[in-house]
Order: sequence, then structure tokens, then C-alpha cells
Amino acid sequence: MHPLVPPRRLGVVLAALFGLLLSLLFASPPSARAEAAATDYQAESATISQGAVATNHTGFTGTGFVDYTNITGSYVEFTADAAAAGQTTLTFRYANGTTADRPMNISVNGTVVASSVSFAPTANWDTWATRSVTVSLAAGANKVRATATTANGGPNLDRLTLGSAPVGTPGLAVAPYEYFGWGNPQSPTSVMSATGVKWFTLAFILSDGSCNPAWDGSRPLTGGDDQSKINSIRSAGGDVIVSFGGWSGAKLGEKCSSASSLAGAYQKVINAYGLKVIDIDIENTEWGNATVRQRVIDALKIVKANNSGLKTVITFGTTTSGPDSTGVDMINRGANSGLANDIWCIMPFDFGGGTTNMGTLTTQAMEGLKGRVKSAYGYSDTTAYAHIGLSSMNGKTDDSGELVRISDFQTMLVYAQQHHIARLTYWAVNRDRACGSGSDGDACSGVSQQPYDYLKVFAQYTG
Ligand code: GCU
Ligand code: CA
Repeated sequence: MHPLVPPRRLGVVLAALFGLLLSLLFASPPSARAEAAATDYQAESATISQGAVATNHTGFTGTGFVDYTNITGSYVEFTADAAAAGQTTLTFRYANGTTADRPMNISVNGTVVASSVSFAPTANWDTWATRSVTVSLAAGANKVRATATTANGGPNLDRLTLGSAPVGTPGLAVAPYEYFGWGNPQSPTSVMSATGVKWFTLAFILSDGSCNPAWDGSRPLTGGDDQSKINSIRSAGGDVIVSFGGWSGAKLGEKCSSASSLAGAYQKVINAYGLKVIDIDIENTEWGNATVRQRVIDALKIVKANNSGLKTVITFGTTTSGPDSTGVDMINRGANSGLANDIWCIMPFDFGGGTTNMGTLTTQAMEGLKGRVKSAYGYSDTTAYAHIGLSSMNGKTDDSGELVRISDFQTMLVYAQQHHIARLTYWAVNRDRACGSGSDGDACSGVSQQPYDYLKVFAQYTG
């Protein structure tokens, strides 16, 4: 909850644990789970022609990567299984520490389906990136070959992932919340240089009293400190997601009386910054009112129709076993209204009861969310994971005794990496430091730590 949330009751936790017990007892049969999450194929286990397995650079997955011989025609061939015939995304994880492209032809079962696909430089040989192509596969085993088309050979190749690519870039997935409105927010460009993070989620746009957007309900969109900070992030090669809502203050969803006027308010912010992604952090009274929830869904449909490629994130509270009845209602409304929402994002904290097992509880809540999104939209598991995310809270949360440790962030990172979820973020970069003489819960974590210890964990997420 962002920020200042009243503690929930222990009953919520007990009810959630009971729900988890039920879901374990009535788990779906193996056939229903047959379509696994995106599948990884390690390059070092594939067929290699004119290349060698190597480990002389850091950051690879599995037990190594393939160093293509620097020659035209060197290749790696994977045998990839498709559950059914049809279009699939192939995502190659690679490094290219030179300044020149290392293009490759991608073939499926002997036919080149994508020629001279660019594998652009990645800064150095320890920095890995992903390159995706969408292809048609036959049901069952497919030979997927990546062949170098220039004398430099291919890049270093870590793995192939079969299945939906994550909705956003990894940078977009991790984009930490930063709040410029109070206390002593760190300069975003110093966060970037300390952690390598490129995207931020900026909080919060609220109503200025009418159906009109303003930072925290009062600061202007353009011409002020907020805009100059956004400019500085972009000049340093980053970008921003703007977040509407939060726990406190007047919400546009309530101050705008129709979906079209609410869409108009969102549009002003999209236009002010040329946004590619918006986040609706829907809480408190905006969340509790079904009419307002539907208005938000309908307004997002309108802005998606009017802004080609705009991505939308809906962020909301959760129980330890996934969305509560309001969350389920919101997801079902999205599906029933035909909203192609990109990311359903839960805030897995403020559970009550002083829990410290937050990494495990977060993964449980995410599994609950995955099931809800999967059934509402009729997605496969892979596609459902690509449409969900989490926004944790580092250190002491709003609930007395509840603590999210750095090791819990590591648990969440492992889960994200395993399922390729679309968002792995937290409230907030402002809090990612030890407390000084004061203990303002919105400006520090309340635990002993170095600056950005939490963000440095999530910053490792590769999507
Ligand atoms: C370096 C690097 C290798 C890489 C090679 C290349 O030798 O260490 O990992 O494969 O350059 O240019 O292909
Ligand atoms: Ca090489």
C-alpha cells in the first residue's frame, strides 16, 4: 500500500491460509498443467557446429554458453518441443562485447524463417540481452538453428526460451517506484548509476480536485521539477512509467464521472510525456467501489484504442493466496470487457499478523494471481505468467512486525526468473536505505542495509 496503510486483521491471513489448503487439496490434475511455463533450452546442451562451450564470462545461465567460431556458417541447433502447432516466440539470450552487429539466420526444420536477425552489441561480454523472433512451429520436436551470417561469427549464446516473451523489457519489469513528492528522494540518475536500472515508476498522479491530473494533486505536469527529473532520466538512457493513484488523496477514477472523461485525464498525462506505459495503482475507495472499478477498466480500453502500443499495468492489494474477491472481480471485469491489460500486478504485503516469511508468501500469492488471470482470460500458463507481476515493499511494511528481508527479494527473483513474469518491482526506491536519526517509514527501510541493497537484487532480473 502506497503509503500509510492501516493494518489488516489476522483473520485475513487465516482465511488466506485456509484457501491455500483448499487449493492444495483440489489441485488441478497433471493434464491441466501439461502446458508448462516458457521452456529454456541451454545452448551448451544443443548441437554445436563450429563453436565451443565456454565459461570465461559471467552472467550466463546453466553451465556455460556457446562461443561461436568467428566464421560465416557457424551455428547452434536446438531441438525445441512445441505443445501444439502455431506461432511461438523464440527468445535468444546472448552477449556481444564488440561494437558490431553479429547477425544470424534463424531456421526452423531446415527453412530460414528470419534472415539476418540483428544481435546488437551489449556493452561487454558479461552483459546479456535478449532477442525475440516470432515463428511458426510444428507440434512436437522442432529443429531451431541460429547460423552466423558474417565472418565475425555469432554472438556468445546463452540459451533459447520458447514461449511468450515477457510483456516488457526487463528494464520495464523492474522499474522501481520513486516518489518525488516528499522527504529527500534520491536523484534518479544517481539511482541509475548505482544500480544499472533504467526505468522508474513515478508516483503518483492524483486529481487536482476535479477531473484533471496533477502530481500529488497539486504539482503541474509540465514545466516543474517532475518534468525536469523525467528529462534527466531520459537523457541518461532511461524512461518512466507514470503511476496513477496510491492509497492517499483524491483519485481520478472517482473525480471523473465517466469512462471517457477519465480516459481524457489519463490522456493528458500520456501526452505530456509521450508515455509508453501507465500504471493504475488502484487502492482504498477507488478500489472498493464496483462502479469506479468498471470505469477504470473502460477508460483503459479507450486509451489503449487511442494510443497504439500503450501498455497498461493494474496494481492492487492481495491476500497470501492471491487476489481477494475484489481483485477477482477486477480481473473478471477486465476479461469480460475485452480489456487487453498487459500486467496484473499485486502488492504482496500488509498481510497482518507480523509475518516475516514474505518471500514464500509472495510466491504463493503470485500462483493465486496466475490462476485467476489464466481462467478469466483463457490463457495458457505461459501467457498468464507473462501478464502478471508483483510490487513488494522493502524492509518494514505498514504492518507492525511484518518484514521483507533482502533474502525475500532473492526468493522473488528466483520465482520471476523461473516463470518470466512481467513485473518485479517494489515500493519504493525512497525507502531503499537505512534510517538515519529519524525513522520515517516512507523514506527508509527500517532495517540495517546499504543503499539500494534491495534494488540491486531485482536489477538482476533478465525477464
Ligand atoms: C572474445 C570473447 C569471446 C567471444 C569472442 C568473439 O574472445 O572472450 O567470448 O566469443 O571475443 O569475438 O566472438
Ligand atoms: Ca566467438
